[in-house]
Amino acid sequence: MTHSGTWTPGSWRDFKALHIPEYRDTAALAETEQMLGTYPPLVFAGEARRLRADLAGVAAGKGFLLQGGDCAESFKEFHPNNIRDTFRVLLQMAVILTFGSQMPVVKVGRMAGQFAKPRSSDVEEQAGVTLPSYRGDIINDMTFDEAGREPDPARMQKAYMQAASTLNLLRALAQGGYANLHQVHKWNLDFVGASDAGAKYEAIAVRIGEALAFMEACGVNPDSVPQLNGTAFYTSHEALLLGYEQAMTRQDSLTGEWYDTSAHLLWIGDRTRFPGSAHVEFLRGVNNPIAMKAGPSLEPDDLIRMIDVLNPRNEPGRLTLIARFGHDKVEGGLPRLVRRVKQEGRHVVWSCDPMHGNTIKAASGFKTRPFERILAEVRGFFAVHRAEGTHAGGIHAEMTGQNVTECTGGAAAVTDEGLAARYHTHCDPRLNASQSIELAFLLAESIREEMEKDAAAQGTAAAA
Ligand code: TRP
Ligand code: MN
Repeated sequence: MTHSGTWTPGSWRDFKALHIPEYRDTAALAETEQMLGTYPPLVFAGEARRLRADLAGVAAGKGFLLQGGDCAESFKEFHPNNIRDTFRVLLQMAVILTFGSQMPVVKVGRMAGQFAKPRSSDVEEQAGVTLPSYRGDIINDMTFDEAGREPDPARMQKAYMQAASTLNLLRALAQGGYANLHQVHKWNLDFVGASDAGAKYEAIAVRIGEALAFMEACGVNPDSVPQLNGTAFYTSHEALLLGYEQAMTRQDSLTGEWYDTSAHLLWIGDRTRFPGSAHVEFLRGVNNPIAMKAGPSLEPDDLIRMIDVLNPRNEPGRLTLIARFGHDKVEGGLPRLVRRVKQEGRHVVWSCDPMHGNTIKAASGFKTRPFERILAEVRGFFAVHRAEGTHAGGIHAEMTGQNVTECTGGAAAVTDEGLAARYHTHCDPRLNASQSIELAFLLAESIREEMEKDAAAQGTAAAA
């Protein structure tokens, strides 16, 4: 199948759908999907268009995309404190980035809908027993028994409800006063405040406080400038469980265009981004901003073909490419993709996922990611863009506001043996709060270098 026929919200059903479970009770599945189709949209088309416009700014080199949150949200970890803490670390990272880069930062959570997981194997074996793999709480349960691993359509409804109430809290936090820039000191969590990263953050918070006090004396305050009161915060997840995504897809009454209203931004994973994929077919037809993961196996020709399908009108802000190569492969593999996209004049946001190419199994048996490798991939990503003269436009991180021990290293030095202490993820290891803040400092520094290089190049051009 080629992606050139008439698109409908259900046209993906004629394409190759990987990583989607078979439900035993097809009648219950149909009923659930029908019901979801009558539920209120979680986001509005106008918001998705605003995010697209923000990302167009990033594609033009005038902004930075910060995207982060859990690898997988879960029913068990669903708690207002978890939502607030992840949001607050994202705010801290955003402040560090905005202050360091002096560019607008587009804030997007991997939150309020990030439930479905592609798995490398359909089955899992434990002590001689083989059962279907866990695929995320929207599909089945992590508990290793027959009932737990059975895909259950009712979970879609529960996931929708959880996404709706998560989004409700995020909107309140973003607009209701919590994200007011004057609160910048209060976002420093206790256990972070005590760390090196926390101290560095505090120093920036002090300088922002001074700047705000100065501006206040000049008549600029949250009453006169509402931007100081809060921030635009968007949601995103991998559009994997297409029955759910289709049910959430609605026609905008203002423009007649289709939007997947389950989140502002949806992405396609590295395992489902091939020609003929149901996931590609589905996302090509919705007008949300979308993203695609790009790993070492992606050839430049295939990338251009994918861009033809996903962004045929070459609209900036429509497509973000998320590079996930691994610390040792990024500088070898990424340049040819970046170069080709630039040669062909395609407008994209290049973002860096330094998480998924750096996952290893620790001696203790835990899946982990050495923090040093995460930072090394980020450095490599920036080096590639500096060399190619393109904009390193964003970061995609799996992180949490909780004080977990899932990635080794960092200033607080989580060791291999220490992983077991607070290892709570439902899927991949996440950065904890202080590791996230350390990462933001590295990013701010790297963006600065890019800007200085650009300024120097302009100076040379002006002199010539
Ligand atoms: N509204 C501006 C922005 O989002 C300033 C701002 C308000 C802000 N609260 C913030 C920036 C929290 C970062 C974090 O950029
Ligand atoms: Mn993951």
